[in-house]
Amino acid sequence: MSSVIRETVHVSTTSADYDVIVGTALLAEVGARVREAAPADAAFIVSDTNVAPLYLEQVETSLCEAGFSVASLVVEAGEVHKNLTTFGTILETMAKADLTRDSIMVALCGGVVGDMAGFAAASYMRGIRVVQVPTTLLSMVDSSVGGKTAIDLSCGKNLVGAFLQPSLVVADVGCLQSLEPEVFVDGIGEVVKHGVLADESLFDELAYTPLLQTSDPDYLTHVVARNVAIKRDVVSGDERERGVRQTLNLGHTIGHAIEAASGYTLGHGHCVAVGLCAVARAAEQLGWAETGLAERVAACVTAQGLPSTSDLPTSELVAQATHDKKRHGTGVNLVVPTRIGQVEIRRVSFDELFEVIRLGMHRC
Ligand code: GLY
Repeated sequence: MSSVIRETVHVSTTSADYDVIVGTALLAEVGARVREAAPADAAFIVSDTNVAPLYLEQVETSLCEAGFSVASLVVEAGEVHKNLTTFGTILETMAKADLTRDSIMVALCGGVVGDMAGFAAASYMRGIRVVQVPTTLLSMVDSSVGGKTAIDLSCGKNLVGAFLQPSLVVADVGCLQSLEPEVFVDGIGEVVKHGVLADESLFDELAYTPLLQTSDPDYLTHVVARNVAIKRDVVSGDERERGVRQTLNLGHTIGHAIEAASGYTLGHGHCVAVGLCAVARAAEQLGWAETGLAERVAACVTAQGLPSTSDLPTSELVAQATHDKKRHGTGVNLVVPTRIGQVEIRRVSFDELFEVIRLGMHRC
């Protein structure tokens, strides 16, 4: 019989306190856990076309057994559906299911649908509670924790949203087994980011341990919980991203430009991996980071099966950054790694940002 492993990370912010429970065989306990964390009569599950065939029935049963009346909606998977139309469908379905302010949303999905379901929970009747049940590595280590919710507009990603901390996060690492290797690896981009940001021992472990080849649920539980704790430590000091939370955007300035330039065909974590390598390369050349940093970051990313460079033309990335810059005033706050486990936020002009992109994307 396989052992059951659990780790709990407690998150405390100005607006909410909640547990992130990580481990195996947790889906069957979702109902009981939700009952303990956030009493409600009705639960509304939002899932997607990839996840629902695998896990929806189990979670529905668990919620019913815990005494909830349960309704659910399955939306199309994929970033292209993270839009006003799907958002509207979720809200209309919630209303038709007669949900009240005391009902609870259960987001059983990866990060894309989790963001959208969270925003629907934040909006319906001016806000109901949400429980996140992330099913991808990316959503377990990043998007399900910290309360950011959003949808995309045709002008850009995550342009509309709200902060709503979940009442509970249940991360069953058993779900990772069903992921396509490409999707699993995509989540590692955010794991490497956390190592570069705040944890040299995690980073060093990643440099030698390809997570994709790790089937040990004990180790995966430990890695996910460690990443959640890193994010918790940042978010609890700055829920609304006025200061230190911006450091979680490490690798994202160039990463977002790559994502947009690829027409969102490249996974977010893959783009973050390239963005991490690029900003490390530029930072080293500009004398902002210690010598050897860029090589270490690129080696770690490569060991995890992620790209360290991109073929997209620098001019296209600069164009995307230019488009994005309009939303940031006279410059951007760039998160710069100075050594593994340490970053600083630098206010850079757009000219400096373009130089960072040029240096970062230059093939050595
Ligand atoms: N994914 C970055 C944040 O939650 O702030």
